Amino acid sequence: MTAKELRRSYIEFFKNKGHSEINSASLVPENDPTVLFTTAGMHPLVPYLMGQPHPSGPRLVNYQKCIRTGDIEEVGDDVHLTFFEMLGNWSLGDYFKQEAIEFSFEYLTSSDYLNLPVDRLAFSVFAGDDDAPLDQESFDKWQSLGVAETRIAKLPKKDNWWGPAGHTGPCGPDTEMFYWAGDGSAPETFDSENKQWVEIWNDVFMQYNKTADGTFEPLTQMNVDTGMGVERVTAILQGCASCYDTELFTPLFDRLKELSGHADPRQERSGRVVAEHLRSATFILATDITPSNLGQGYILRRLIRRAVREGRRLGIATGSPFCTQVGEVVIKEYSDIYPELSQHSDVILKELELEEQQFAAALERGEREFNKMVEKFPPHVEKKIISGRKAFDLYQTYGFPLELTVEMAGERDFTVDETGYNKAFEKHQDTSRLGAEDKFKGGLQDHSEHTTRLHTATHLLHQALRDVLGEHVAQKGSNITADRLRFDFSHPEKVTKEQLAEVEAIVNKQIEASHPVSRDEMTLDEAKASGAIGLFEERYGERISVYTIGGYSKEICGGPHVENSNTLGRFKIKKEESSSRGVRRIKAVLG
Ligand code: ALA
Repeated sequence: MTAKELRRSYIEFFKNKGHSEINSASLVPENDPTVLFTTAGMHPLVPYLMGQPHPSGPRLVNYQKCIRTGDIEEVGDDVHLTFFEMLGNWSLGDYFKQEAIEFSFEYLTSSDYLNLPVDRLAFSVFAGDDDAPLDQESFDKWQSLGVAETRIAKLPKKDNWWGPAGHTGPCGPDTEMFYWAGDGSAPETFDSENKQWVEIWNDVFMQYNKTADGTFEPLTQMNVDTGMGVERVTAILQGCASCYDTELFTPLFDRLKELSGHADPRQERSGRVVAEHLRSATFILATDITPSNLGQGYILRRLIRRAVREGRRLGIATGSPFCTQVGEVVIKEYSDIYPELSQHSDVILKELELEEQQFAAALERGEREFNKMVEKFPPHVEKKIISGRKAFDLYQTYGFPLELTVEMAGERDFTVDETGYNKAFEKHQDTSRLGAEDKFKGGLQDHSEHTTRLHTATHLLHQALRDVLGEHVAQKGSNITADRLRFDFSHPEKVTKEQLAEVEAIVNKQIEASHPVSRDEMTLDEAKASGAIGLFEERYGERISVYTIGGYSKEICGGPHVENSNTLGRFKIKKEESSSRGVRRIKAVLG
């Protein structure tokens, strides 16, 4: 079965079970300060898992593009990827463990679907601890479907529990499904430490709310959230040892072969890293993010630069430029499933080329500086160490990566104080933001009252900007933290002080008008016809939510919002600046 057939078969199966298919959401979460990228299919669904009704109903299914960079150093082995696609089905307060497990079992084993032999499958359930009991129901359910007891492991929280993201919020036990990818028949007893048992699917049962005092109380709305990795399962279905052996990567390796002259880049760690990272980078570039030194832009830069470095190892000259050529293949191969790639192909290719060239120049300068640094060392010094500070300066000033400093130092019998480098690096970076993505393990975002207020204020700001500056103003991005809102919008020039004052006054007037906030469900066409503003592309399912604030604002949005504008307080614009070409950025607070 190809990846394309797998996606379709999964969606069809769950549609037959009453699920509505929803679109893959953007890789960059909107209005969610807790993560840099969408890390799981559940992520864009958080408001609905928290109890908001979803316009497409309580049973949902989709494939979702995801980025996780926590294991970036592991990329190149058989299983780790920074970009992957996740198949998922959800029950929002509808079915629970019994049906979820039945669906999973049927999909895995039915000859109409994956047709995996039961004797190559194993399962794990939550073992129970002081917080919550053993998940006996899941255990019994697998057994009732014919699974041997020895193939159902009871594992602790670190293996079989999902969420919450922060200290509090919905979470629950999960049950995981494994496939024996080893040679010969599978052992009678399932051993989760044996890597030949490959995890293929995870059903999470959100049934608890972790409270501030650390106790787990039952939730009123119980949800199911599941995730199955497309790349991994495609490999298994094709009997491949690694996802790099599937058609998802073959065209990329074909191109790398041409570019490098290497006989088989697929078998080289470097070749895999280049293909994998440029696939990720191409998808990130399709979201309007460009390489930079902070947040998502930094991750993007890191992916491209790592790919360039590994490309050198493979024998491809830096600055050739080769990244665009690999990016072209990604766009060609994936655009039928993810049309945003072909829609943004100009920007993607331009940015890949630019970043590769900038990096090539940085490498040249960095190498010169490195040589100067090394030559200055007095010859009689025995322990030749490049200080962390100096290594960091090379990175900071010339964009010269630590790995290269270490590598070049090694060639001349120098060592690098990496601990010192890390200290200097941490001091410099906005580490909390950079690390946020990895801290998020799929729990639920911050829906405190204040962020909800900022969310509603963003709608008023959006409309007020259109009133003052014109109808060309369209949302280009939005980010809300506990303290402030940030709104990016299209506008060709600086917004004047007078215009900002006018926008501020309008928003405050609308707040004071005590407008009720209401939510309606409709189709995208109905929303457009009704004059709703907002991001129209690739969102939600067939039906969407539109929020109306009195007679003033009407916008497509997933929520959540306050009930009345008069709960917002005083709106104040703190800053107006350029975000990128043709895009302005406003930061504002509610006092
Ligand atoms: N959210 C769960 C996961 O990512 C299903 O594994």
